[in-house]
Amino acid sequence: MTTTSQRVTAWTPQEGISSAVELFTRTFGTDPAGVWASPGRVNLIGDHVDYNGGLCLPIALPHQTYVALSPAEDGRIRIVSDFEGVEVWEGRIEDIAPGGVEGWVAYAAGPAWVLREDGLDVGGFDAAITSCVPVGAGLSSSAAVECSMALGLAELAGRPFSGDDADRARLAALCTRAENLVAGAPTGGLDQAASLRAGDAHALLLDCADGAAHQVKLPFDEQGHAILAIDTHASHQLGDGQYADRRASCEEAASLLGVGSLREVADTTSVVDLDAVLDGLPEGTLRSRTRHVLTEIWRVQEFVTALEAGDIATAGRLMVESHASLRDDFEVSVAELDTVVEAAMAAGASGARMTGGGFGGSVVVVAPERQVAAIAEGVRELARRRGLPEPQVHQVRASAAGGRLR
Ligand code: GLA
Repeated sequence: MTTTSQRVTAWTPQEGISSAVELFTRTFGTDPAGVWASPGRVNLIGDHVDYNGGLCLPIALPHQTYVALSPAEDGRIRIVSDFEGVEVWEGRIEDIAPGGVEGWVAYAAGPAWVLREDGLDVGGFDAAITSCVPVGAGLSSSAAVECSMALGLAELAGRPFSGDDADRARLAALCTRAENLVAGAPTGGLDQAASLRAGDAHALLLDCADGAAHQVKLPFDEQGHAILAIDTHASHQLGDGQYADRRASCEEAASLLGVGSLREVADTTSVVDLDAVLDGLPEGTLRSRTRHVLTEIWRVQEFVTALEAGDIATAGRLMVESHASLRDDFEVSVAELDTVVEAAMAAGASGARMTGGGFGGSVVVVAPERQVAAIAEGVRELARRRGLPEPQVHQVRASAAGGRLR
């Protein structure tokens, strides 16, 4: 989703509710029936593995998308957002289908289609959407829109999704389906799981083979460490075919290796027989991309072990190795991301890596609190020297999943 507005500071829930209600009332002249919100995410480690049945470890951000909603008569839909200046889209529930809507409306309205397909009686509605999730920063502003809309529309249709994780997993899968089929982005489910299943002060260990999730307590606060999400301001675009190309390579490699997904290979081999496994593939990108996926899944396992032992130094080393693997083997990094990782490490970070799909977007950094100011200055300075856009530093904390706020 590409938009122009760039909000950077996380709103308090009260500010978010007020902004969505105010936009709703100003546009539709009534008070909404309710307000729902869902957060963006930053993935600590485990990228480009979700669609391989792998393991990811996101946290939800304090930055959320807020949706004020009311049911409307006769299947009429009006959606207002302030993504690209205030803009109202009007249509009918029957219009919401793959190929029927595009741009931000596909993300906002796609959940209505999947929920209907799933048997819910979703009718017409009025919706006002406001967000403080930085847009185009690779922090899942799209999933935040889908998940907040899905929570609200399901509840209006008489099927509230509780805080129960199995229930949330089901809704996350529906939102991923909306993104794949209505918005047409072939993404893997990490973002929606983070937005709907993450826990306050924890990272979410998501097993994409069976959808299971575990909450992993983070040792950062107690050891005086901060988490930074640094937006490179390089343009972030998954829709230009690069993401789909990487996904296709992984599927081809799995098929050549005779397995349903590369996760099966990760579970039955280890780093000592990595080369022997890769010998089963033609030389070149299929081998290097497969090497990334296998080693990244193993790194997530080691990272969780390190966090549980409170070993931030090892976790940080794994983040840097993950970045190198995404850059050299999977080829999804860009100069802006590499520059921020390099500068953050030089200024005393414990770990830094690109996060999310790549080709722009953000870097996640774990660093001692006392180094945060030096890191912020260091990344700006190196970007300036290299003629790159000025990166924006957000200090974030692992926050709770989305839900109803009013
Ligand atoms: C994007 C996609 C996710 C995931 C990441 C890479 O954020 O939406 O499904 O594949 O890229 O880990």
